Amino acid sequence: MRIIYLDNAASTWPKPAGVKEAMAEVIDHYAANPGRGGHALSKRAGKTLFQTRAQLSRLFGIKNPNNLFFFLNATQALNQAIKGYLQAGDHVISTTIEHNAVRRPLEYMRRTKNVEITYIAPREDQLFYAEDFRQAVQANTRLIVVSHASNLTGLILPVEEIGKIAREHSIPLLVDASQTAGILPIDVESMNIDMLAFPGHKGLYGPQGTGGLYINDSLELEPLIHGGTGSQSESVDQPQKRPERFESGTVNTVGLAGLLAGANFVLERGVEEIHKHEWTLARMTMEGLSQLSGIKMYGPGLDIERVGVVSFNIEGIDATEVSFILDQQYGIATRAGYHCTPLAHQTVGTDKEGAVRVSFGIFNTEQDVRDLLQAVKEIKEAFHF
Ligand SMILES: Cc1ncc(COP(=O)(O)O)c(C=O)c1O
Repeated sequence: MRIIYLDNAASTWPKPAGVKEAMAEVIDHYAANPGRGGHALSKRAGKTLFQTRAQLSRLFGIKNPNNLFFFLNATQALNQAIKGYLQAGDHVISTTIEHNAVRRPLEYMRRTKNVEITYIAPREDQLFYAEDFRQAVQANTRLIVVSHASNLTGLILPVEEIGKIAREHSIPLLVDASQTAGILPIDVESMNIDMLAFPGHKGLYGPQGTGGLYINDSLELEPLIHGGTGSQSESVDQPQKRPERFESGTVNTVGLAGLLAGANFVLERGVEEIHKHEWTLARMTMEGLSQLSGIKMYGPGLDIERVGVVSFNIEGIDATEVSFILDQQYGIATRAGYHCTPLAHQTVGTDKEGAVRVSFGIFNTEQDVRDLLQAVKEIKEAFHF
């Protein structure tokens, strides 16, 4: 059976040509420890890391690649940003569509450090307005944390406008780009983004076990992890120098070589083309589903541009069951349940039932969408309505 992979919001698959080869090249020819030895193989591994930092910096408009730090995923990057920056008694503004990778560290800081949190909700039209962030600013507001796009509905947040408000009030802005890195244009300078957390295994087409965090030069954060950095080894303190300050222990050179190949692919294709393709497929899906009776979709109207994520339910059939049948009978990989974002499910009213999520990548086709729509129609009919 042909597999139709529609779970790209979790991890993209397949990967572009070159990713596997770049990883095999490390294993076969230079899997030495980067930055730890003066020998040729260690230097070659170090060069791969530098190139990965440089290409990602190009993609995100980061001036100094040493302000970009590697982590194993977006969750670790977000934990570093949130726990490393917030202090007791601070106030933070976030949103009601955040993933648990943002919400849980925030709630942990509330419990342990008395951090105050304001979650901004979308208005009645289901859209977010930057003005609502301005209204929420308090004297002790020290951080604004927002997802660039929802992993449940694909809704894109007005990050640029939120960035302007953050800058006016001198409040740093942390953006969770898990659903947009490699998909939407991101320029940390012009968008006033002070910290940017991103996974390597989604829209950047790298392997799992890769991700990163950009931290603006002027921000001081406590490192979450202390240890060997291959530099200033005589000191008992973590070096101030970047990137070592936030990168203790051996990094994932094999994975990062794959991420470099993925980032090169994205830079060659261009995020505009990638987004256009994914949005075309998402809109086609929504239009097709809206023509079937008994289907409920979530998020704003069809005319509002989103990333390639669509969530829906078939009335009277459990989301998990729909996803299971799609997988077992049709070879269509989707994701059902709460997508690690119970807050967003509460926001769209699916906190009891969850939803089926389909999410597109650059390698999906219009035929994939037609096959999905046909499968949904058949499942619906098999349940007699
Ligand atoms: C919006 C959002 N934030 C954070 C994450 C966590 O990403 P990772 O799995 O790389 O830690 C995800 C993953 O699904 C996500 O969609």
